[in-house]
Amino acid sequence: MPVRTSGDLARFRQRVEALVHRHPVVVDNAYTGWFASGSADLDEVRHLTIQFSVFSHLFVEAQLRKVMNAADIDSYRSGKEILMNELGVVFRPTRAGAGVPARGSGVSPVEDGVDPDIVGTEGTVDGGRFRFTAAHFEWLLRFGAPIGLGFDDMGKRRHGTASTLFFCDELLRIYGSEDASIAEGASYAVENWAAAGFWKELIAGLTAFKERECPELPLGFWIWHDKIEDQHAAHTADELAEAFFRPDFDEQKFLAGAAEMLDGVKAFWDGLEADRLAYEERHVA
Ligand SMILES: [Fe+2]
Repeated sequence: MPVRTSGDLARFRQRVEALVHRHPVVVDNAYTGWFASGSADLDEVRHLTIQFSVFSHLFVEAQLRKVMNAADIDSYRSGKEILMNELGVVFRPTRAGAGVPARGSGVSPVEDGVDPDIVGTEGTVDGGRFRFTAAHFEWLLRFGAPIGLGFDDMGKRRHGTASTLFFCDELLRIYGSEDASIAEGASYAVENWAAAGFWKELIAGLTAFKERECPELPLGFWIWHDKIEDQHAAHTADELAEAFFRPDFDEQKFLAGAAEMLDGVKAFWDGLEADRLAYEERHVA
């Protein structure tokens, strides 16, 4: 195999960006577009919360698989930053640019109502402190409480619709793939999808709902995730450059992993959109 050049990387990067930024789930997500309007009622917010909790909880499994299948120690540690943070290890601030893997970094608020503006967004789990309440799932449980959802209502496979479970299983299969090129493509796709604005659309809708009928609803989970995504996406650019020059890197597999993963993401949101349309039809009837 001929040695790859930085020109090859620039060309490949263009192909990847075109694939991700033109994918329907990034360009035109009907559900989040509607949700941003703020017209979701209590049942619709509950349904979103439950399905999101299933994805968010089962994502931990896919992240563990990604860590176990990592191609090298650096990506193993980058993956662990995200995994441990999801589980409740609070990020410890480090000196800026100290060479710490910054991907997935940030400080999880441990209390409800912590202002995401005042918790840092750079750091590492190395030497960080574990707190039960800092686990993202527990954070989502605290969001669910004021809308009547308890531990037993959220985060289990049994709570997922067929389309939600399809997405979760695609995460395990592609994002957690044993083939590093496929997994890296999926990872790039997931991070760039997440940075493309869906958190902001959900926050807009949830803010309207909170003001209208549930003032005690804590939005920290959503706001913090939105803040961290821009960094994640920026780090994937560095990771792509690193992966690209690995001798075993396979461009086609990377592109396929990215495309299939986005199809999985799309299935999740399309499922929510179909449920919404069916719900509204029942209510109009
Ligand atoms: Fe999370």
